[in-house]
Amino acid sequence: MQERLKNILEDAKKKLEEAVSVDETENIRVRFLGKKGELTEILKSMGSLTPEERKQLGQEANKTKQQIEELLQEKKEALKAIAQQAKFRMEKIDVTEPAKEIKVGTKHPVTITIEEIAKVFKSMGFTLTEGPEVETVFNNFDALNAGPYHPARDWTDTFYVNDEVLLRTQTSPVQVRTLKAQEPPIRVFAPGRCFRCDTPDATHSPMFHQVEGLVVDEGITMADLKGVLDSFAKQMFGEETKTKFRPHHFPFTEPSAEMDVSCFKCGGRGCRVCKGSGWIEILGCGMVHPNVLKVGGIDTEKYTGFAFGMGVERVAMLKYEIDDIRLLYENDMRFIEQFK
Ligand code: DAH
Repeated sequence: MQERLKNILEDAKKKLEEAVSVDETENIRVRFLGKKGELTEILKSMGSLTPEERKQLGQEANKTKQQIEELLQEKKEALKAIAQQAKFRMEKIDVTEPAKEIKVGTKHPVTITIEEIAKVFKSMGFTLTEGPEVETVFNNFDALNAGPYHPARDWTDTFYVNDEVLLRTQTSPVQVRTLKAQEPPIRVFAPGRCFRCDTPDATHSPMFHQVEGLVVDEGITMADLKGVLDSFAKQMFGEETKTKFRPHHFPFTEPSAEMDVSCFKCGGRGCRVCKGSGWIEILGCGMVHPNVLKVGGIDTEKYTGFAFGMGVERVAMLKYEIDDIRLLYENDMRFIEQFK
């Protein structure tokens, strides 16, 4: 028996020396000291011994048990210390290493342009308003006096959700919402996204931005329209900017016009930006058609108004001399970072 105890101790020692993880030491504990462990088996088999033998062997078995427990404890601690050392080595920070560059985001040129336009109109007492990108066909076309066969209604030009709902093709439906929700005097501008079924090329994108404007009050005339938009052009493109209004047609305004500004690049002499003409078309505008005012519940005997709408990408492209609209949507940081 004693011989066996000695062997067990030797065996446990050897196994512990070879162990490389805390898990392994646990297995060793179970193997020798566990309920079905080798040492436990010996203690269990002592029933057949004389009391004298039992006492002596019991003492020795307990001593062996103690020794194995001590060895286990020592080994566990040693292994833990090694693991901690390894962890410290892993977590060590080399403060002399060069830092990784953190890129700070920049504002997108479309955002910058909307903010510039907004600043000018706010300074003239306009309030910012917004409408949904998913609109009713009624607000986008019918309420804006577009006849039932207006070409813009064609499904090849407009993204329809169903017969009554579409992705707005212009910000003008915000006019309808504003006229319904507010009493004159009204003076709002509304930036936002618009959508048209266009194949992307250098000047077309199926998603783009517009800024709409609407003024309704007693006694508003075309002179107010010209005064406000001329002032906008000077604040946006420079004090020396001249404006020119050309007759045009929009269903929701009568009379309608397009406004050109003298080229802010060449001052009107003719260059690449203005394609040699000295003028750049910037926006559509006009006196709000009585039919539109009526849908909005406005008394057309008492009130008149003017409206305008401009393409944000167009203004941004002209101002920053960007020659392809697709550059605005590719999220190439090398492009965006130029607008810091
Ligand atoms: N909605 C027009 C378009 O998308 C732009 C426009 C023209 C808006 C004249 C207006 C306006 O408010 O009066 O082409």
